[in-house]
Amino acid sequence: MTEYKLALVGFGGVNRALAQLIAERNHRWKTELGFTLKIVGVTDLFLGSIINREGLDAALLAKLPATQGAFAQWPTGTAEALNEAVIKDSGADIIAEATFTNPVDGEPATSFCRWALERGKHVVTTNKGPIALHGAELKALAQHNNVAFEYEGSVMSGTPVIRLAKQSLAGSEITGFEGILNGTSNFVLTCMEGGLGFVEAVKKAQELGYAEADPTADVEGHDVRLKVVILANELLDAKLTVNDVACNGISALGLDDIEKARQDGARWKLIGAATRNTDGAISASVEPRLLNNDHPLASISGATNAVSFTSELLGAVTVSGPGAGRTETAFALLSDIINIHQSAARNQE
Ligand code: HSE
Repeated sequence: MTEYKLALVGFGGVNRALAQLIAERNHRWKTELGFTLKIVGVTDLFLGSIINREGLDAALLAKLPATQGAFAQWPTGTAEALNEAVIKDSGADIIAEATFTNPVDGEPATSFCRWALERGKHVVTTNKGPIALHGAELKALAQHNNVAFEYEGSVMSGTPVIRLAKQSLAGSEITGFEGILNGTSNFVLTCMEGGLGFVEAVKKAQELGYAEADPTADVEGHDVRLKVVILANELLDAKLTVNDVACNGISALGLDDIEKARQDGARWKLIGAATRNTDGAISASVEPRLLNNDHPLASISGATNAVSFTSELLGAVTVSGPGAGRTETAFALLSDIINIHQSAARNQE
């Protein structure tokens, strides 16, 4: 029986939900998935850190009060975030990185990933920053050190779009995609269709926990832009940087635009898209688009996300599902770990 030792970096909603899943389901995974997980370290800038190579109680971790320096109350814990020690010296095989997305330089998450990969540890992450801004470097580092760097949760949380496209659609020749890749902005547009003003709708999205720390990133398209870069580089073999993607958000849309669209049998959606042109170049954009009601993405409402891949052999393949949420994103980390386990099993055959 394989037991993976796991260190959790960032202990906000996502890694806390992962701890909860481990507490509830580890015994089931033993038979269903062929492995169990043992948490040997946790570090968080606000809560502090703890290392225990014998394993920490996942149920207790999930209930840790969200107060500054909370880990100092535990016997071997400290109020200090000993990130380097937890990543490098806790004995972990896998680092689950779920700190905040920094869209400017991807730090400190990129350094956390780098330290782990350099030490020969697998990394699973939900963080868009390191992948959109430093993906090529980190992938090369992982390959060099013969470890995995997995990031299914960076786009559409636990809805498996990256692996679906890379594995199940391999050979179908994907030529582009268009997607509703931000739950907050889609939720806001849906609320506006119900007559709620833009500002009130954004406030509601914040209360429901969909929005980024700064919701500007959601409504101005910056969050979608990172996801477009990740998908285009991953699936279309593009070499896009954030500045290559023209980006406009939804803040200029008013209730009158929404109503006019309704009368015309259409809906406004914030669409992130990329396509391979006939000359091989990749064009990518983030912009509000008016979709006729019969468009596959027009009926996607609320915080739900969806992406429609265009491929030479299948035409359009559309996947919809959650694009945010604690447990949904924690599931993405689990799916990355399952992938690591299955790849290791295949390599042993
Ligand atoms: N703020 C993002 C959204 C969360 O609303 O979709 C997931 O990236």
